[in-house]
Amino acid sequence: MNEQIISLQTEVSEKLSAVTDLTELDSLRVAYLGKKGSITALLKGMKDLSAEERKTFGAEVNQLKEFTTQKIEEKVKELGEKEIAAEIAAMPLIDITTPSSCECGSYHPITLVQRQCETIFKTMGFAVIDYPEIVTDYECFEALNIPKHHPARDMQDTYYLDNGQLLKSHTSAAQNAILKKYGKELMETGKPIKAIFPGRCFRNEATDACHENTFFQMEGVMVDKDISISNLIYFMKTMLSEVFRKDIKVRLRPGFFPFVEPGFELDISCLICGGEGCPSCKQSGWLELCPCGMIHPNVLREGGIDPEEYTGFAFGLGLTRLAMMKYGVKDIRNLNSGSLKALSQFTDDE
Ligand code: PHE
Repeated sequence: MNEQIISLQTEVSEKLSAVTDLTELDSLRVAYLGKKGSITALLKGMKDLSAEERKTFGAEVNQLKEFTTQKIEEKVKELGEKEIAAEIAAMPLIDITTPSSCECGSYHPITLVQRQCETIFKTMGFAVIDYPEIVTDYECFEALNIPKHHPARDMQDTYYLDNGQLLKSHTSAAQNAILKKYGKELMETGKPIKAIFPGRCFRNEATDACHENTFFQMEGVMVDKDISISNLIYFMKTMLSEVFRKDIKVRLRPGFFPFVEPGFELDISCLICGGEGCPSCKQSGWLELCPCGMIHPNVLREGGIDPEEYTGFAFGLGLTRLAMMKYGVKDIRNLNSGSLKALSQFTDDE
């Protein structure tokens, strides 16, 4: 065998056995097999040899190349395994059987009241429906008997997207889709529409202790033959006494919403001050909790339901307000504060 090849092979063996990490190994690979590597140089130099010499020398260089490649591969494997073993050894030992010492999160008070209301309404035969937060002007206003430029839009200024859609200013934005979807079944089989649809709403307004630009509502609708205001009052009272686990003083005042006729404001006596007046209830002793009313004939018609034959009620329960009342939260802004200290005080009492 050519002496140069023998000495190179010995050198490769020695150097490779001394290598201790993958970076060093890669430099060696480049030094021997790279474009300017010594073995590559031997291969390139073969063009100057005679045909006879090239045959034997070529075979030997190729053998050396294969030997080196194989040795490098073996070393990559060996060093890789060593690196993994070292990483594992450096990891702290975890005893997965010890109880966790980290603090667990808790449900947000609004989630708690939302779930509680969902359970109450489900037991009364209402379906719970999810609806997007981004809606069209038609869904949020026009389908609800609020044409363009109607002054009622002023109460519900919201955030508009470049594509003309908007962040829903009330959960009523789902009414039209729900009437359309379940109205067919009502007319064909006589099965009443009974649905609640909780969701996050947005309004472009200044914040104070009882107003936020982001809040939660839970809308409910019921449509059937002969539905009246007494049905509405029954469901509202049942829900409130379940949520608060006691009889709650309520009052019904006339209220204007273009999508209901007649429309009401259902107020509850402020549970924070006991009805005496405080910043949370604007010193009135009452808190507007649930605007409601009988669905306007135009809204039923727009949803494909004949108002001559069917009637229904709708309500827009303020979930955020309800959570404040239930848990005695004085300032609505605390609910979006993200303070774990504040939020972890609430528990599910079901
Ligand atoms: N969507 C109304 C609001 O947010 C509330 C409402 C709902 C009123 C259903 C009547 C019936 O102001």
